[in-house]
Amino acid sequence: MSNPSYQKPRGFEDILPDDVGVWQEIESTVHDLYPKFGYREIRVPHIEHTELFVRSIGEATDIVEKEMFTFKKGDEQSLSLRPEITASLCRSVIENHLRKQEPFQKLYYVGPCFRYEKPQKGRLRQFHQIGVEAIGADDPLLDLETIDLFVRTLHRTGVSNFTVHLNTMGCQDCRPVYRDHLKDHIEPRLDGLCENCQDRFHRNLFRVLDCKRESCQSTLGDVPPIYEDLCAPCSDHWSAVRNRAKDLRVDVKEDPRLVRGLDYYTRTVYEMRSGDLGAQNALGGGGRYNGLMEELGGEPAGGIGFGIGVERLILARNEQEDADPETDNPLLYLVSVDEECHEEAYSLASHLRRKDFAVDLNYEDRSLKSQMRVANRSGAPLVGILGPDEIEQDEITIKTMSSGEEKRVRRDNLEDHLSSVARS
Ligand code: HAM
Repeated sequence: MSNPSYQKPRGFEDILPDDVGVWQEIESTVHDLYPKFGYREIRVPHIEHTELFVRSIGEATDIVEKEMFTFKKGDEQSLSLRPEITASLCRSVIENHLRKQEPFQKLYYVGPCFRYEKPQKGRLRQFHQIGVEAIGADDPLLDLETIDLFVRTLHRTGVSNFTVHLNTMGCQDCRPVYRDHLKDHIEPRLDGLCENCQDRFHRNLFRVLDCKRESCQSTLGDVPPIYEDLCAPCSDHWSAVRNRAKDLRVDVKEDPRLVRGLDYYTRTVYEMRSGDLGAQNALGGGGRYNGLMEELGGEPAGGIGFGIGVERLILARNEQEDADPETDNPLLYLVSVDEECHEEAYSLASHLRRKDFAVDLNYEDRSLKSQMRVANRSGAPLVGILGPDEIEQDEITIKTMSSGEEKRVRRDNLEDHLSSVARS
């Protein structure tokens, strides 16, 4: 094989025809499930003004500082490929006055995001997110509903080995109190932390809790949780969420170290971590962002949502022994003995496709034997052979690939035969 002249950039992936089936299956699960929870799909641009992300995600976050694909054209404002979708969605709700028609908006999305990170297993520069945002309500039950929907998405797509990490970030009134307590806890331990943590200590204190290094985690010791510092409304909200979290009937772990990597969160935050992935084990995460709409110029409104990484979802499901990805093979592959039979095969395929059967046929100039090899590779459980004799008798020879058995089927019985195989 010759060396290709062009290769995709690092951290970007082709999704090839053999792999597309699982993506379609996941997407159709989302399009089926999310409207049942009252969410409507929204599609927003893949590019926004850089300022939108700086303002919402936060200036001192890794995403904004190091990971955005940013560019400028002529005299226009700086633009960035979206590193996530929450900010774009809030911008769209405000710009299109969606809350004027209906103050409570439940929206979902599926699409690519871009972050300039060091590629590794489960970490890409272009990846895809499935997400929801519910804007216009503060009810803690809504927080639980989003967690429930996330969990159901994982179950419906074949992922069962995961833990829900749950925490609260308080609000702008009580978080400063906690920040001071945390600072007092970390300061005497600072020398034992890595360079990155030392830098974060000064610029984005909460992210020190997030460091992946074992040595930093043990130096940090028993981090004081935020619970005692919460103001009364945040404390009530947290109690309501944690008390009801048991009802989710999944493994929920209260985790005082969970802070998430985006600055817009208030109160509830959560992250679903897979037991089957290595370092990049966050299948997705989310939380409340009660100040974000106002920050972006909208009316004040509570909001909550999550983002699931589709590539990590697929990795996790493939790790599980019982993973049974559905394939998009044809049910019937037609081969023909000569040119005339090929035309007949084409008409038959068109007819069956109009009846919704998945049918494919050979278009290359190949011997019957070679056509059979292609039919075998197609994964179709049935191969239909059309020769002059079959055509004359108004029949078709059907070969069942699993057993090798061949039998003649009358053309007017063919649809019943295909339906019974499709059902089995
Ligand atoms: P996030 O935690 O930054 O949250 O991203 C959500 C998920 O996207 C991650 O847990 C992971 O599965 C996936 N992901 C992130 N970066 C990469 C990458 N480089 N390669 C592969 N997968 C990746 C958000 O983006 C928030 N907008 C979620 C949210 C919605 N919060 C409230 N509403």
